[in-house]
Amino acid sequence: MKTTLSIIKADVGSIGGHITPGRKLMDAVTRHVDTGLDAGLITDFSVSATGDDIAILMAHPRGVGDPDVHRLAWDAFKRGTEVAQDQGLYGAGQDLLVDAFSGNVKGMGPAVAEMEFEERAGEPFLMFMADKTEPGAYNLPLYLAFADPMNTAGLLLGPELTKGFRFRVMDVGYTAGDRVSELDAPEGLYDLAALLRDNNRYVVEAVYSRHSGGQAAAVSTTRLHNIAGKYTGKDDPVMLVRVQKDFPATGEVLAPFATAHYVNGFMRGSHVGPLMPVTRGTGISYFDGPPVVSCLAFCVHEGRLTEPVDVFAHPFWDEVRTRAAGKALEVRRQGFSGPAMVPYSELEYGGIVSILERLDKRFRIRAPAVAEAAV
Ligand code: F6R
Ligand code: MG
Ligand code: MG
Repeated sequence: MKTTLSIIKADVGSIGGHITPGRKLMDAVTRHVDTGLDAGLITDFSVSATGDDIAILMAHPRGVGDPDVHRLAWDAFKRGTEVAQDQGLYGAGQDLLVDAFSGNVKGMGPAVAEMEFEERAGEPFLMFMADKTEPGAYNLPLYLAFADPMNTAGLLLGPELTKGFRFRVMDVGYTAGDRVSELDAPEGLYDLAALLRDNNRYVVEAVYSRHSGGQAAAVSTTRLHNIAGKYTGKDDPVMLVRVQKDFPATGEVLAPFATAHYVNGFMRGSHVGPLMPVTRGTGISYFDGPPVVSCLAFCVHEGRLTEPVDVFAHPFWDEVRTRAAGKALEVRRQGFSGPAMVPYSELEYGGIVSILERLDKRFRIRAPAVAEAAV
């Protein structure tokens, strides 16, 4: 049987700043999605929060980009926005960039990651939710999980994995439409690395098994600030990864997150910080961060989901969190200087643009010194 998993996530308001959405708002979103279950539109769903974002995971048989499924999520976020406004939450409705829904939430603000597949007898998958960062934050973990035998033992030991994986990479710097390219690992490893080192520009959108052709991963590649033309919140990406057998094992997909690698985002979407693996529902704190990622593991059968397992709630990750906090403190010691703040082109707030325009007028071309002029 073919099942589609759709994650649609948005920030429609939070308590105490850009921290966490709060119970009432979550309940309002959940109640609305539940009407889709009652109506038979979806077969199951799960609603969760990470940082200030709410992610709706839906299972259904309707394929990717289904207008009715997207509308269900959009309307749920609208209901949530009403509660957020009623409670005076901060940033109420901030990711719903247009007033009226028009068929597909892609490009309207919410982030989307979807895939359709033939269910295996046992169908385990992972749902990742990141806050205070951008879609390219998943580049390194995906590269390590699907292309590096130093991380993924299955690339050496699993017969279904030794053929490697196909990566679809999106050029998110291109705003006139979708610009994508496919690269195969292991042959194209260096080409892949050449693209994926630049998280701002090239983002893994999907990964496929070269053994079965089945889709392994789907990442939301929306860039909110491209859509809005101005800052409305970092993209805060979500990702689905199918695991085991034809795909890396759950632990191989999780292992790269132990690096707590540095990503863009953090305060005002304009700084560099470590991606800290956190438990479901964790809010935001130090310097509006650090960037966080949570991960829920599920199985799906005939479109019905098991209860989620919070994989970063395991004691192992406490040590990683401590290290991530250390990395966050370390980079913050240098404030705005050099790589602690993202380059000019990536800044999410425009204030500095007017400062630089004003200061530009104070620069003058100095006349060459006499000795230089004589040469
Ligand atoms: C970053 C983020 C926060 C805000 C910051 C200022 O993704 O959400 O760091 O950018 O708290 O927010 P405003 O401009 O809403 O006061
Ligand atoms: Mg926000
Ligand atoms: Mg957010």
